[in-house]
Amino acid sequence: MIGRLNHVAIAVPDLAAACAIYRDALGARVGAPETLPEHGVTMAFVELSNTRVELLEPFGEGSPIANFVAKNPAGAIHHLCYEVEDILAARERLRRHGARVLGDGTPKIGAHGKPVLFLEPRDFAGTLIELEEK
Ligand code: CO
Repeated sequence: MIGRLNHVAIAVPDLAAACAIYRDALGARVGAPETLPEHGVTMAFVELSNTRVELLEPFGEGSPIANFVAKNPAGAIHHLCYEVEDILAARERLRRHGARVLGDGTPKIGAHGKPVLFLEPRDFAGTLIELEEK
């Protein structure tokens, strides 16, 4: 069911520092940071030949990643995003397998303008998974 790995998201306390590490030390192509107030993050993409890394910094009050960054002050992998063809069909398949979808199960428009769902980490080998419809 799942297709390509769309991105790996890393939540960090200092986006500029994380961008500099990827750009300067790792020699990667890093896009310009963009703030998405409705998602409570400032983000920048690291473009790789086979996938992307999404660097996320909390933005504003009540950012959904603020607690995560507080618990991981050096930064940490936050989620993996897999592509799916049909997000509602994916949700139904997961529910049939007893896996939990976070929130009310209604796909939201994610940071890339596409419908997304997040899955309960305890049902997926301890990993927060984002599904994004292509
Ligand atoms: Co993501």
